[in-house]
Amino acid sequence: MKYVFDFTDKVVLITGASRGLGRAYACGFAQFGAKLILTGRDELKLKETADLVEKAGCTEHKSIVCDVLVEADMDRMLAEIAESYGRVDILVNDAGVGHKIPAVDVSMEEWHRVLGTNLDAPFYLSTHIVKKFMLAQGGGNIVNIASMGGFSGIPGGAAYSASKAGVLNMSRALAGEWAKDNIRVNCVCPHYTETDMVRPLMAYDAWMKLNNSRTPLGRLAQPEETVGAVLFLASDMASYITGSFIQIDGGCLGVAY
Ligand SMILES: NC(=O)c1ccc[n+]([C@@H]2O[C@H](COP(=O)([O-])OP(=O)(O)OC[C@H]3O[C@@H](n4cnc5c(N)ncnc54)[C@H](OP(=O)(O)O)[C@@H]3O)[C@@H](O)[C@H]2O)c1
Repeated sequence: MKYVFDFTDKVVLITGASRGLGRAYACGFAQFGAKLILTGRDELKLKETADLVEKAGCTEHKSIVCDVLVEADMDRMLAEIAESYGRVDILVNDAGVGHKIPAVDVSMEEWHRVLGTNLDAPFYLSTHIVKKFMLAQGGGNIVNIASMGGFSGIPGGAAYSASKAGVLNMSRALAGEWAKDNIRVNCVCPHYTETDMVRPLMAYDAWMKLNNSRTPLGRLAQPEETVGAVLFLASDMASYITGSFIQIDGGCLGVAY
């Protein structure tokens, strides 16, 4: 897909860039002059993304392996960024995990894995990147990948829904706190999109039929269909938008039957 933006020389850090939505965002920013920092746990998959962003036109990029559940890993990544770029203009907090487990079977370990990845890590990275780079730079931009599951409770996904509702309201609070510092914080909220996270559900015909019948556009989204909203919120075209969100939901929230 072709997009129209200008991120010339902007340093963009994307978590979850090894696959799925994060990879699609990386390929989007790559078309418009961004210097990309790609991060995830899987080195080989990060290399695949690096090849794709080069094909898309990115001339400067760096991959950093980092587990966002490990504070020391995030600190090492921040130190590497300080040394190689000395700034972060745009942070996209995309890394996330889902689950489909009856609530009564969810261990506290699983609860903390989901909340730790989806909510604690975006808080840690946002606050540390603001403190380390954005305040000194005189501004910055954060886009958090929340979910329509942050508005509706997903049966079998209590921890996921809680984490994404948390991301939405955390983003509003941070937007209020940092508006005076010229730092904007927004969310995008995708509905079910065809990635590794959703593929296990897609194997169930009944689930697919239910999802498609409840979605006005009648289908799942493709990762590329969620890119424009992220690029828009990260761009100067959205300079008066903060503490807000864009739903990418095939009409689910707005349409009642
Ligand atoms: N797909 C959907 O329907 C949908 C809908 C709404 C919102 N979202 C949100 O969109 C984001 C991306 O989801 P996706 O669908 O692209 O999922 P995905 O294909 O499963 O990819 C998940 C990404 O998160 C990274 N990740 C997970 N745990 C991590 C950890 N501990 N440390 C570092 N990276 C970690 C993975 O990296 P490695 O594999 O390299 O570790 C991978 O790059 C998530 O926040 C998700 O909640 C997805």
